[in-house]
Amino acid sequence: MTENPYFKLLEDAMARAYAPYSKFRVGAVVRGVSGLFYAGANVENAAYPQGWCAEASALAAMIMGGEASLTEVAVMAAGDQICTPCGGCRQKLKEFALSGTQVLCYSPSELRATIPLDELLPHGFGPSYLP
Ligand code: THU
Repeated sequence: MTENPYFKLLEDAMARAYAPYSKFRVGAVVRGVSGLFYAGANVENAAYPQGWCAEASALAAMIMGGEASLTEVAVMAAGDQICTPCGGCRQKLKEFALSGTQVLCYSPSELRATIPLDELLPHGFGPSYLP
């Protein structure tokens, strides 16, 4: 059986989150079309609106890895509710997502939901709208 690669990557990312204000640690991993994984965590700021989400960190890592297309996104956070990407991150992810890109929502112990990005951002505006 192939081990699920997301758990360790997400756990490690979550552990590195800088979330002293919300105390809500989030880890995110995007999988590029190459099959490589890129991890990120949320990074907060004393000037609250200047913080950014785990998904944004993972996307920045992917771009710095030389990739600009992703097939899957995984997010991990603790708590009773599944942690889906915020509205702004849904838009950021759409920029690089292929049709059919799935969002995998993890708790620290299990995969809790798999949701197509298109369902999280229906009729979303993307690069194809621009000349
Ligand atoms: N956050 C993420 O990093 N990703 C999400 O999908 C939802 C929210 C972060 C932003 C902030 O640092 C903290 O969680 C509380 O909103």
